[in-house]
Amino acid sequence: MTVIIKLGGSLLATGRELVQFLSDYAIKNELSLIIIPGGGPFVKIIKRLSEEMAISDDAAHWMAVLAMHQYGFFLADGEITIPVVESIDAEVDTDVEEECSGNTGRICIVLPYKILKADDSLPHTWDVTSDTIAAFIADKLGEKSFIKLTDVDGILDEDEDGCECENGNVNLIEEIHAKELIDKGITGCIDAELPRFLLLHNMSCLIVNGNVPERIIDVINGRETETVCTRVISN
Ligand SMILES: Nc1ncnc2c1ncn2[C@@H]1O[C@H](COP(=O)(O)OP(=O)(O)OP(=O)(O)O)[C@@H](O)[C@H]1O
Ligand SMILES: [Mg+2]
Repeated sequence: MTVIIKLGGSLLATGRELVQFLSDYAIKNELSLIIIPGGGPFVKIIKRLSEEMAISDDAAHWMAVLAMHQYGFFLADGEITIPVVESIDAEVDTDVEEECSGNTGRICIVLPYKILKADDSLPHTWDVTSDTIAAFIADKLGEKSFIKLTDVDGILDEDEDGCECENGNVNLIEEIHAKELIDKGITGCIDAELPRFLLLHNMSCLIVNGNVPERIIDVINGRETETVCTRVISN
């Protein structure tokens, strides 16, 4: 079984330990885990620069994609070095076959620049960042869903002021259709483009708190309806 996991830049502080934990889990359970890095602080610098200075959408796009590389190298640099791959085309690069596929139980981190250069079909806007790129790569790998690990429990249902709901608590959305996210203009902790991409490709995304390992294990094993997360569905 192959599982695609986007590991958010919001998990910078614990990200490397999390990758080591997932690596152990993949080996023990004979899983193939493909990690797609977020952008984290590396992309935030580019965003700030693009607001302060003239940076074209094209330049900002590739700079942001390379920010994912930086986070990818960081995540790979843990106690046990994790393999990185720059291609998901097994004919071009057998690494992915050896490192990410099969039933041997492996983990790898995908660096997306060459993959996106080879297929430059995603729009070059700030609506497209690592969440949409993770969905794009999952789609290329023939997967219909991916897991987004972030630093919150999922998409929180905010009121109009963007802070809290009934009883003063912020409610977690357990399941929502991508179309509803688009219609209501909800983005929360995901890229604005992600719901459109999911809808177009009949894909789903499970948003999970990466700081709670048992929830990660639950969603990896298909128990997403029994754990705390947000399921973004498209059919
Ligand atoms: N409605 C919402 N529901 C959930 N999180 C929200 C919402 N609105 C804003 N957020 C913020 O989104 C953050 C998570 O998204 P963020 O893009 O920062 O992380 P990430 O996607 O894990 O990292 P990266 O984009 O760097 O890969 C949360 O820490 C939370 O503060
Ligand atoms: Mg994000």
